[in-house]
Amino acid sequence: MVDYQHSPVTVSGKRAVVIGGTSGIGQAIALGFAEEGADVIATSRSEEKVNETAAEIEDRGVETARVTCDVTDAGSLEAVRETAVDELGGVDVVVASQGAISRESVQDISDEDWDFVTDVALDGVRRVTQAFAPAMDEGGSIINISSLTARLSMANLPAYTAAKGGVEAFTRASAKELSPDIRVNAIAPGFVITPQNAETYAEGTEKRERIDERTPLGRVAEREEIVGAAIYLGSDASSFVTGEIVTIDGGFADSAF
Ligand SMILES: NC(=O)c1ccc[n+]([C@@H]2O[C@H](COP(=O)([O-])OP(=O)(O)OC[C@H]3O[C@@H](n4cnc5c(N)ncnc54)[C@H](O)[C@@H]3O)[C@@H](O)[C@H]2O)c1
Repeated sequence: MVDYQHSPVTVSGKRAVVIGGTSGIGQAIALGFAEEGADVIATSRSEEKVNETAAEIEDRGVETARVTCDVTDAGSLEAVRETAVDELGGVDVVVASQGAISRESVQDISDEDWDFVTDVALDGVRRVTQAFAPAMDEGGSIINISSLTARLSMANLPAYTAAKGGVEAFTRASAKELSPDIRVNAIAPGFVITPQNAETYAEGTEKRERIDERTPLGRVAEREEIVGAAIYLGSDASSFVTGEIVTIDGGFADSAF
C-alpha cells in the first residue's frame, strides 16, 4: 500500500465570513459552505437580510452570528472580525462578494459615480483584506469576487471594469505579501443569474440569446455553479494555490466564434 494522503475538497469545520453574503453569489457561497459543515457569518448592510440568511445558515446545523457591515467603513469590517473571533473562535476563510455597478460611458461618468463604484468594489476589497488578515491563522484563505469584465470589456461599465481589474491586481499583490500564512485568490464569474438580475437575463430576451449563443456551454450560470470553486479555494485541497484568478464563464472568454 502506498503511503498517500491528499487534503479533501471540503470546508467542513472551517470558520468563514462572507461579505455581501446575504444575496446573489455571496449568499450561495455562504449557504454552500454551511451545507458543507463550515460555520459561516454572512453579512451586508441590511439587518433584515442578515437575519434571513443567518436563519438559513442555522437551519443547516452550523454556527453563525448576526452582524451588519458596510465595506466603505473600515470600522464596521473590524466589528465583523471581532464578532467572528468572539462567536466562531476565529476566521479561516473570508469571501469579499460585495458589489456595486454604475452604467455610464467613459466620457460621461462623473467623479461621484466613479467613486461610488470603486469605493465598494475595489477599496472595499482592500478594506476586507486589511480587516481580516490580522485575525487569520496559518492556512487562511481570502477569496475576492472579481468579474470577467476585468479581462473582457463591456461598454458603459468603465468604473466597474477598472475596479475589477484592480481587484485582480490587488489579489496578486496581497497573495505575495500575505504568503505563506494566508492565500489570496479571486473568482471571476461570467454571466450568472441571481435574483437581482433575473429579469435582465430572462430567457427569450435579446441579451440572453446573444450570451447563450456566444458561450461554448450554451447558457448563463446559476449562482450555485460558483460555489464549488469557492469551496476548493477555501479548502486545504488548494493549499498551493495563491494569487490565482479562477474564471467561471462557460468558456466565454477563451472562445472566438
Ligand atoms: N451576477 C453576475 O453575473 C456577476 C458576474 C461577475 C461578477 N459578479 C460579482 O459577484 C459579486 C456578487 O454580485 P451578485 O451578482 O451576487 O450581486 P448582489 O447584488 O446579489 O450581491 C451584492 C451584495 O453586496 C452587498 N453590498 C453592496 N454594497 C455594499 C456595501 N457598501 N457594504 C457591504 N455590502 C454591500 C449587497 O447588499 C449584496 O448582498 C459582485 O462582486 C459582482 O461584481 C457578478
